[in-house]
Amino acid sequence: MIHIPKSEYSRRRKALMAQMEPNSIAILPAAAVAIRNRDVEHVYRQDSDFQYLSGFPEPQAVIVLIPGREHGEYILFCRERNAERELWDGLRAGQEGAIRDFGADDAFPITDIDDILPGLIEGRDRVYSAMGSNPEFDRHLMDWINVIRSKANLGAQPPNEFVALDHLLHDMRLYKSAAEVKVMREAARISAQAHIRAMQASRAGLHEFSLEAELDYEFRKGGAKMPAYGSIVAAGRNSCILHYQQNDAVLKDGDLVLIDAGCEIDCYASDITRTWPVNGKYSPEQKAIYELVLASQEAAFAEIAPNKHWNQAHEATVRVITAGLVKLGLLQGEVDELIASEAYKAFYMHRAGHWLGMDVHDVGEYKVGGEWRVLEVGMALTVEPGIYIAPDNQNVAKKWRGIGVRIEDDVVVTKTGCEILTNGVPKTVAEIEALMAAARTQAA
Ligand code: GLY
Ligand code: MN
Ligand code: MN
Repeated sequence: MIHIPKSEYSRRRKALMAQMEPNSIAILPAAAVAIRNRDVEHVYRQDSDFQYLSGFPEPQAVIVLIPGREHGEYILFCRERNAERELWDGLRAGQEGAIRDFGADDAFPITDIDDILPGLIEGRDRVYSAMGSNPEFDRHLMDWINVIRSKANLGAQPPNEFVALDHLLHDMRLYKSAAEVKVMREAARISAQAHIRAMQASRAGLHEFSLEAELDYEFRKGGAKMPAYGSIVAAGRNSCILHYQQNDAVLKDGDLVLIDAGCEIDCYASDITRTWPVNGKYSPEQKAIYELVLASQEAAFAEIAPNKHWNQAHEATVRVITAGLVKLGLLQGEVDELIASEAYKAFYMHRAGHWLGMDVHDVGEYKVGGEWRVLEVGMALTVEPGIYIAPDNQNVAKKWRGIGVRIEDDVVVTKTGCEILTNGVPKTVAEIEALMAAARTQAA
């Protein structure tokens, strides 16, 4: 399995600590277990910041980083080994494992945190934490601070500054290392395979969830624990619902099906959309819209390179789509005016992409000092223009209504432009029709 090597986690912790102010401490909790009902839990997914710094997969754990601490800078609180619980729920690293396998300098039972952590915070000037994202943990943190304050008359020194960790950490996460790109390539490869399988299986009379099952099969077969987000399998007019999740309608002859789905490998997401005809052949209207979206995506790729700013790719898609809609008679007027008045938003109402990484809509600022961010090597993003013609749009001829097309790929900025990670899925009309025709011949 392709994964992030242990040495990288250590490098990340060092890089973060190097940016922290002197005499400070950073504290991060693992994701809580979410209860589904009674004693059934939701599938556990580690918190991305916690995972980024530790690779430690268990719940009920807290990372503490104290740059310059003589007895070790990286302290991990985690569950103790417990033969009875491990028999029921699976193995735990325990404190020995935290040190041996996860590089902690020191490890303590999570049940001892109230006794130990105030002593580690005491005397530090600053506390870095993800304030606001986990209210229960924020309360615990204040309790620990208050323990120190209550001993002020004995000479205890509580910290005076509380700093949001997100700014430092999320900027680090925005720049993907070679190891991260490798994992993202693998997630993209498996997701591409899943889209191909769904294309090959596509038939009128099946349900949207039948195709979702094909995706899930490839995800799991490829070693993914879960999709990076709820798969969107949207046939016919459902393709005009941007985050459609119901996935239970019947696939009809003559309709398109839009699939937006990607898996997660070692907590790194992929995010692919393809839109194809259920019966394997695009109608003239479907083809016209599809090729317009594809041309806008090509124009966007050309705007992704170091020193281009974040919004250039989006602007390129808006221009191509607006001009194309005028040509097809779906918009009337001057292209520049239609762009200025945002008339295209009736058909293209979302942005051309987002940062991609451990979270599908990944962390990282889009603007710095009020200006669009300039792209740099290692930034990963999606490129996903779309056109959605509402089923009840009375301003366009009937033949266009209910057509929704999105095409989405994942890219990483390189020295000379960008690497497309998701090129493994066919994308042109000819390629998709050929793949689907071959699948039908084989099945017949
Ligand atoms: N899958 C959600 C998105 O494309 O942003
Ligand atoms: Mn996306
Ligand atoms: Mn998507």
